[in-house]
Amino acid sequence: MLIRTHNDGLIHPLSSEITSPEAYATRRQLLRQWSAGAAAAGLAGWSQREAIAQSAAVSQAVKLAALPATQSSVQGAMTMEKVTSQKDATTYNNFYEFGVDKSDPARNAHTLKATPWSIEVEGLVKKPTRFNLEDVMKWGAMQERIYRMRCVEGWSMVIPWIGYSMSDLIKRVEPLPGAKYIEFITQVDPQTMPGVRGGYLDWPYIEGLRMDEAMHPLTLLSFGMYGEVLPKQNGAPVRLVVPWKYGFKSGKSIVKIRFVDKQPMVSWAKAAPQEYGFYSNVNPTVDHPRWSQANERRIGEGGLLDKKRKTLMFNGYEAQVGSLYSGMDLVKNF
Ligand code: MTE
Repeated sequence: MLIRTHNDGLIHPLSSEITSPEAYATRRQLLRQWSAGAAAAGLAGWSQREAIAQSAAVSQAVKLAALPATQSSVQGAMTMEKVTSQKDATTYNNFYEFGVDKSDPARNAHTLKATPWSIEVEGLVKKPTRFNLEDVMKWGAMQERIYRMRCVEGWSMVIPWIGYSMSDLIKRVEPLPGAKYIEFITQVDPQTMPGVRGGYLDWPYIEGLRMDEAMHPLTLLSFGMYGEVLPKQNGAPVRLVVPWKYGFKSGKSIVKIRFVDKQPMVSWAKAAPQEYGFYSNVNPTVDHPRWSQANERRIGEGGLLDKKRKTLMFNGYEAQVGSLYSGMDLVKNF
């Protein structure tokens, strides 16, 4: 196993370095297939990877195609905590478009049509345009980042994501000076998303960030996890990951990014304004109206009755992001 140093001065191998030899051999085969089939070196076209992923899923050799990435040098991006098993991270999910039980997305999300995929950028930007995902994927260097994730429901995981800082996309599309917030609008398709027919939320699922939050280097536009492209239940082909906020701020299967001048109305605040605010920073001192937020259960660490761990302010990312909120009343702005 290769060991690398990184920005925390600690050591952690890349996901690709802790992959089983069998899976790694299969990935090398896939890489050869990509480079033989297309001129692309390293990163193959999305649709091609998707096709390979589908056939791989059928043959059960590997679940998804590899997504090459380098280790992140962003401050705080590589926690040393034990990584959650890939099985737990891909079978215990929230993705209401595919059902409300934790096991529903893994069971139902195979119907999501992740290719072809485009992202529309609209609102207060120089040139509102619809971009192909394959082009968007080239706007930043793919990095692996190991983030703690904390759900508002009181559980947490540690996940090796792949993607690039959202700021790379923002700079690329040239926001106008009036743009103060960004709205992330996700896919809604009753044909392929059975949960949409269930009416649990007012679709599409929408999330939002203030511009400085979106520009923070830790805010990740993610295309993969565990060395592979994103599984559908985790938000294929592209999602947001904001590690210091509760998991619901990380919208999955994004189709539209809108630059606006006013704080957007986001899905959970719309559904239950007393329970979920716009900011949703992980804050152990602000209880959810129906339960405490002081502790959390790390998925994979024992059962429901096992001792919980203390939840950290900003999910442990206070040194990196605390200054974004200086002077704000974080009880009022929950
Ligand atoms: N994005 C969409 N489109 N739909 C959803 O229901 N759920 C959110 C968030 N993004 C959700 C979503 C919630 S509540 C959480 S906790 C995280 O996704 C879960 O991400 P994970 O399943 O990859 O852990």
